[in-house]
Amino acid sequence: MKHLIAPSVLAADFSNLQRDFDMVNGSEADWFHVDVMDGRFVPNISFGQFIIKFMKQMAEKPLDVHLMILEPENYIEEFREAGADVITVHYEACPHLHRTIQQIKATGAKAGVALNPHTPVGLLEDILEDVDLVLLMSVNPGFGGQKFIYQTIPRVQKLRQMMIERNIHAHIEIDGGVGLQNAEKLLQAGADVLVAGSSVFRADEPVDMISKLKAIGDLERFV
Ligand code: DX5
Ligand code: ZN
Repeated sequence: MKHLIAPSVLAADFSNLQRDFDMVNGSEADWFHVDVMDGRFVPNISFGQFIIKFMKQMAEKPLDVHLMILEPENYIEEFREAGADVITVHYEACPHLHRTIQQIKATGAKAGVALNPHTPVGLLEDILEDVDLVLLMSVNPGFGGQKFIYQTIPRVQKLRQMMIERNIHAHIEIDGGVGLQNAEKLLQAGADVLVAGSSVFRADEPVDMISKLKAIGDLERFV
């Protein structure tokens, strides 16, 4: 299956969100990536359910909501009601991860688990069967526009290998510092969802940038 591109709205222009959402709606992007930060799990605060409700009205594509918050289990239903199609919680924030994943699924949303750059992918061994998506952070969460951590590539390979061995077909999503300079390597390593914030919204031609990110890998098939 073709990989998915998820522009991160954290890098959009919040004084003109409608324009940026229209841009993504009219592009080849697949999802809107929506970052929720609480100032406790990560050292930054972004926005919550109230704003996401309005994003849902503007978005013509699924909302991929990345919860960088402590105790996410207290808010799952609210984010679903606000319009989240995918809800991803952090492994590091969930002492009862299995329960939280089931809670997300019970709302009808797809369930994802995210790992910080230092958290070993092997720790997911006993939860892999239950998740629809694994998000690997390729920067330390909290801010857009950071430098990609290259150690992410072998992490993707290892995680995809774990999935192949057990015939699991969950998405592997990469978040942070993703752009044309590393997208191909990530896809080759086994990723299939690329989050792109600054590389899309800071591009001179964001729609073209999305097309380029989406087209990676196409060439090989024709050679
Ligand atoms: C970081 C967020 C990312 C961020 C990515 O904590 O989870 O989704 O918006 O932004 P870029 O692509 O600019 O690194
Ligand atoms: Zn994110």
